[in-house]
Amino acid sequence: QKIERAEEDTVSVKIENRIAWVSYNRPEKRNCMSPKLNRQMLKVIEELEFRDDVGVLVLTGEGEAFSAGMDLKEYFRENEAKGLWATRKAQREAYGWWERLRWYEKPTIGMINGWCFGGAYGPLYAVDIAVASDDAQFGLSEINWGILPGGGASKVAQELMPLRKAMYHAMMGENLTGKQAEAQGLVTESVPADQLKARVTAIAEALLKKDANALRATKWAMRRMVEMTYENAEDYLIRAQEALNGFGGLEARKEATKQFLDEKTFKPGLGTFDI
Ligand code: ACO
Repeated sequence: QKIERAEEDTVSVKIENRIAWVSYNRPEKRNCMSPKLNRQMLKVIEELEFRDDVGVLVLTGEGEAFSAGMDLKEYFRENEAKGLWATRKAQREAYGWWERLRWYEKPTIGMINGWCFGGAYGPLYAVDIAVASDDAQFGLSEINWGILPGGGASKVAQELMPLRKAMYHAMMGENLTGKQAEAQGLVTESVPADQLKARVTAIAEALLKKDANALRATKWAMRRMVEMTYENAEDYLIRAQEALNGFGGLEARKEATKQFLDEKTFKPGLGTFDI
């Protein structure tokens, strides 16, 4: 039967214990990204970004897919029929929320529960930590239907994987399992499907115990440094820490140091200080 989703139903959200579970919600279309979904996703993640009851955002997919990439019908065919303006608008909407997610104020985790193709590499790259199910499938399938992996997907493969592996991945259009994606650097780790949610929850809970300002400064620094020389990175990190001090960084460090050196209630090498 045909399912017509209203724009606001293309993404589902559940907030539990300060974790926002944000899901692509077009399981009947394997969560491929239509213009409607892309608009809704930007709306949803921006709304969650500064909420006090959200400390970590998890991006995942309803049903058996993470996301089957761009919607070949609604994103490509129908927009091309309308004209260049429609194509450009759809590109901006898609790239827009991926960029928002790359520079998100809060820590983000991708829970890659199934199919992950092409355009879905944009959000895959955008999340800070990516955990896959062993039986997930990752593919740059563009070559299988006669285009190059655009929308940043080639860049994601080149950035995250060794060049020999990225080249093969882009040219052959063969899929990788979660374990293979882990071995080649596409995801942080891969776990059996029945442990996926528990593992992601454990990571989220660990992040929630850490100083949120220090986490934000750390994740942004890691991304910024990709394009910096060693000298520039050293300098940037001094300035980033000094900026962090304006967000309570100095007080946080003094408190942590007191708990370690004076009160002896924690050891930084073995865990997080009590905020
Ligand atoms: N664009 C548009 N529709 C899609 C997409 C997509 N990317 N992916 C799935 N669908 C639709 C199918 O057309 C089908 O619609 P229908 O029920 O109206 O016929 C429905 O979703 C279910 O898909 P099936 O193919 O029947 O599902 P199955 O589980 O057998 O296969 C798979 C899943 C392997 C993901 C398959 O759907 C597929 O190959 N999808 C395309 C993946 C892809 O290459 N995406 C583009 C990447 S490149 C880019 O993003 C620029």
